[in-house]
Amino acid sequence: MPSKKKSKLTQPSSPTEPSETSVPWWKDAVVYQIYPRSFQDSNGDGVGDLQGIIDRLDYLNGGPESLGIDAIWLSPVYPSPMFDFGYDISDYEGIDPVFGDLYTFKILLKECHKRNIKLIMDLVVNHTSHLHPWFIESRSSKDNPKRNWYIWKDAENGKVPNNWMSAFGGSAWEWDAKTEQYYMHGFTKEQPDLNWRNPEVKDAIFKMIAYWLDMGVDGFRLDVVNYYFKDSQFRNNPRSFFRGFREYERQFHFFDRDLEETHTVLKEFRKLMDSYPGDRMSVGEVFVPPPGDVRIPATYYGSSDQPELHMAFNFAFMYTKWNAKLFRTRIEEWEKALSEEMWPNYTLSNHDQKRHITRYSKGKFTLSRAKISAIMLLTLRGTPFLYYGEEIGMLSDKIPKKSLRDPAGIRYWPLPVGRDSARQPMCWDKSKYGGFSKSEPWLPISRNIFENNVKTQESDPTSLLKIYKKLISIRKSEMALKRGSQRLLFRSNDRILAYLRIYEDSEILILLNFSAEETRFYSGGEKLRSERAKVLFSTHRKEDSYFDLNIISLLPYEGNILRLE
Ligand code: GLC
Repeated sequence: MPSKKKSKLTQPSSPTEPSETSVPWWKDAVVYQIYPRSFQDSNGDGVGDLQGIIDRLDYLNGGPESLGIDAIWLSPVYPSPMFDFGYDISDYEGIDPVFGDLYTFKILLKECHKRNIKLIMDLVVNHTSHLHPWFIESRSSKDNPKRNWYIWKDAENGKVPNNWMSAFGGSAWEWDAKTEQYYMHGFTKEQPDLNWRNPEVKDAIFKMIAYWLDMGVDGFRLDVVNYYFKDSQFRNNPRSFFRGFREYERQFHFFDRDLEETHTVLKEFRKLMDSYPGDRMSVGEVFVPPPGDVRIPATYYGSSDQPELHMAFNFAFMYTKWNAKLFRTRIEEWEKALSEEMWPNYTLSNHDQKRHITRYSKGKFTLSRAKISAIMLLTLRGTPFLYYGEEIGMLSDKIPKKSLRDPAGIRYWPLPVGRDSARQPMCWDKSKYGGFSKSEPWLPISRNIFENNVKTQESDPTSLLKIYKKLISIRKSEMALKRGSQRLLFRSNDRILAYLRIYEDSEILILLNFSAEETRFYSGGEKLRSERAKVLFSTHRKEDSYFDLNIISLLPYEGNILRLE
């Protein structure tokens, strides 16, 4: 199915050209996250790289057969000793040799823009690598000018300064024998936390942000943005009764997360972003524990007169079980938490979570569920974030102990905490290494490669990949799906998620049967403008056929996008 031509409303690719409409590009965009180690290896070392991404850009956009996404979010590609695979940065202004160099990065940026793809970088500034020159200086002596760039504390009666924990296990405090103090790290001990209370830190970070914006990147995903500030009195976190796998999850993070001071910095950050032309975008990772209280990310948007982030990730879907009613509740909660000027976003998978297709897998219904979730993600009001490989139904394998790479996975093995299963190499074809590399990849190739690879699915008109392409193309051509208002329908029905998207005189109805049961019900209670609707997309019906809305009758796992007459 060839994707439709870009509508006139597609924003210009160069950040310096004026926008054609008043809607910023990221509201109309479908964003695609790439975990660079795992997308495409070009030099045969088993690890993905920037040249590999360049080689695959046509797959993403720019041609009639492309997927049609509008932006890439690149997980970190900066120099790093890779204790947390790039989320431990030792130089904010370079590119790690495993991924390429700055020259190749600039080519990537140019090639993305040529294809109308925006490039979003990962901004990891809660912490650096312990090998960042700032930390090397900071730990060199107590009176080093950079000492106060990180969080150092004396021992308390020979012990750690307080009860704060690292998300990756153990205390958040690491003893430095040379200078006889503890430093704080919210993740591995190779990721010391920066001291955001020091204005010099903020200045250095903002300078680095300007460096990338000057180069022309289109925005940032802010890693753990709600962790930046810690309590100035270093008070202990109270214990919680939640029995998570990690000690970290058994505390209320009153004193090391979501502190008010973060918002002051984000207001300034937003001003910096807005001082650049081309609607540079920011989206924050605001970690909230399950079930994902969406009121917390909502606070990171700021207010209309004092805006902060353009978007904060809503992770509620990552924690939602397969059930139409639960999804409806999550959507309602999110819409309620956001005020009018705040733009929603949805995501089902990322590099930190088991893939949703595996989370929702159910034997022979797994693919049906993948289709229903794709229709939902790509028709809801708000920017959808896809994760590489979901469009081909990649699953998360159980990774054998000997192949584990993720520090959290190794630390907590055999508990299901590890993230390697979310990061397996992209399957381009069914050859030994999946077309990903010429040599053994850094993580095992997916066991489902025979069906779930790009090449096989390209040649099957009914494949999940073809469905993603079709859904993205419909989303792009229908203003109601991109920008329309949204009304949830049929609250009384437990199996079906239904909503209307409305833009001017166009009304689109989405009907999703989440169950393996045929479902028939009278829809009379809900006032729809017409009883007849035309099929724009359906898992079971013919395109352009008509659907009678008087009695809604859906087959097991049937999903429809319908235009009301
Ligand atoms: C975020 C990233 C995760 C990383 C952590 C520390 O949660 O998504 O991958 O390990 O921050 O930077």
